[in-house]
Amino acid sequence: MSTAERPLLEVRDLVVSYGHVEAVRGVSLSVPEGRIVTLIGPNGAGKTSILSTLCGLVAPQRGSVWLDGREIAGWPPHRIVAAGMSLVPEGRAVLGRMTVEENLILAGELKQPAAALRPAIERQYAQFPVLGERRDHPAGSLSGGQQQMLAFARALLARPRVLLLDEPSMGLSPILVKQVFETIAAIHRAGTTILLVEQNVRLALSIADDAYVLERGQVVLHGPPGALTVDERVKAAYLGG
Ligand SMILES: Nc1ncnc2c1ncn2[C@@H]1O[C@H](COP(=O)(O)OP(=O)(O)OP(=O)(O)O)[C@@H](O)[C@H]1O
Ligand SMILES: [Mg+2]
Repeated sequence: MSTAERPLLEVRDLVVSYGHVEAVRGVSLSVPEGRIVTLIGPNGAGKTSILSTLCGLVAPQRGSVWLDGREIAGWPPHRIVAAGMSLVPEGRAVLGRMTVEENLILAGELKQPAAALRPAIERQYAQFPVLGERRDHPAGSLSGGQQQMLAFARALLARPRVLLLDEPSMGLSPILVKQVFETIAAIHRAGTTILLVEQNVRLALSIADDAYVLERGQVVLHGPPGALTVDERVKAAYLGG
């Protein structure tokens, strides 16, 4: 195995339950360093539950999560961020009444030493100029696409080695979806490993190196996108036949 193939993130036999609802039922997956891996599946399959568990927001009932060789399952979120993994959550979760800058400061204060925060924020304004221009505007006044940029910037403040993306194209027009995917490609080119949950299966498979299909809390298919796009089950269920 070359260094490029070393799994930076490895999940083994993950089980996540909410009371009696078993949302994730023994999922194993591997995200090699430097790759984009996509996780697709229908509503309620358990995709968000997996990402929430990986970044410490939900405690797993069973299973292990390894980040760069360290077992992190059960760690609190701030420690997981410090260890190199950040989440862009489903629905973006920006604080609408706070300014763009306040959103970044609040997120950054949890993630970095104070002296590093200003340059970290300026780095994000350089990457997303529209956020710099609108730094004093309430985040809620931004367009959906701009709010997604803010959600990306917030997650990138800590310079993650692995970025978890939960439905980044949700609710966006086709032009903005294209922009979001260009942003993902740019973040990846800059050296970040990505685990992408995405409802736009065609687009997700076009950008990914490896793909997992999740149904009812279990991985039902796993392989390179080229193989999945010609798989009859994937074509029928996700690519419009
Ligand atoms: N906080 C919660 N409490 C109870 N049940 C939950 C909770 N969050 C999710 N679930 C249930 O767990 C299952 C998996 O949900 P999850 O949100 O992980 O799926 P998903 O694949 O992300 O779906 P979507 O495509 O709709 O975002 C569903 O049955 C859902 O109703
Ligand atoms: Mg979800």
